[in-house]
Amino acid sequence: MRPVDPGSRQPRSGWPCKPAQRTSIGYDFAVIRFEHVTRTYGAQVALDDVSLEVRQGELVVLTGPSGSGKTTLLRMIYAAERPDRGVVELGGRDVGRLRRRSIPLLRRNVGVVFQDFRLLGDRTALENVMVALEILGLPRRVVRERALLALDDLSLSTRAEVLARALSGGEQQRVALARALVGRPAILLCDEPTGNLDADAGAVVLAEIARAHERGATTLLATHDPAALRLAAERGFRRVTLRAGRLEADEVSRPALVMSPQRRERLP
Ligand SMILES: Nc1ncnc2c1ncn2[C@@H]1O[C@H](COP(=O)(O)OP(=O)(O)O)[C@@H](O)[C@H]1O
Ligand SMILES: [Mg+2]
Repeated sequence: MRPVDPGSRQPRSGWPCKPAQRTSIGYDFAVIRFEHVTRTYGAQVALDDVSLEVRQGELVVLTGPSGSGKTTLLRMIYAAERPDRGVVELGGRDVGRLRRRSIPLLRRNVGVVFQDFRLLGDRTALENVMVALEILGLPRRVVRERALLALDDLSLSTRAEVLARALSGGEQQRVALARALVGRPAILLCDEPTGNLDADAGAVVLAEIARAHERGATTLLATHDPAALRLAAERGFRRVTLRAGRLEADEVSRPALVMSPQRRERLP
């Protein structure tokens, strides 16, 4: 097999995402689609008849109390779980029906960040980021260069050679974010990314996630961190609420569209 150069891949126009249809209201292509998805574990219902569409370039804050199904929903997007009933589609493809050997290809298009960072503690920050590119079979020099750029982008250049376990929590999560983003995925999934961080480190991580979204990644941020929910409200992000596995609310606050009295006066 020929090595794939991720620089020449264009995940946002290739698989799993069809080219976006630009319409008057924005990009109208559902990158992620859940259709009546149910998942149970024994008697426990993790997701209960959830239908949801996420369009290309959106940022969706996924919220709800602990045990409401947020993690299960995210895991379905990268094919770590399959629905018992219903369909999960990524770029128009049924994830539940993917062959096992197609799953790594899907995962190249999805970057994931977890609450507990999941770094290799006895490897350096740089090595942790390189891992994400090594599976693509690129030359080691290229892998190293790109990993360094990804770390630099998250203001971690001076920490590249430090063992992951010697980094602060905030730094570890930024390394995890660099690892998630280094392959330029079309989709970024963050599962309680600030859950183990203090307020200051959490704010930095949230700002970096928002920046990754601004650069084009369709982003799902599962959280019940009040700071993350405030950021969502301030920036007018869409907020989807789960409760006991059911989709309870799907709302967008659009502060940018709330008119100031001055502006209203100027209108005809
Ligand atoms: N692998 C599993 N085995 C058994 N129960 C599970 C498993 N994964 C999730 N659950 C249950 O499904 C429900 C939803 O869990 P989860 O998706 O982790 O919620 P959240 O991320 O919102 O806290 C919970 O009641 C949880 O206990
Ligand atoms: Mg969870």
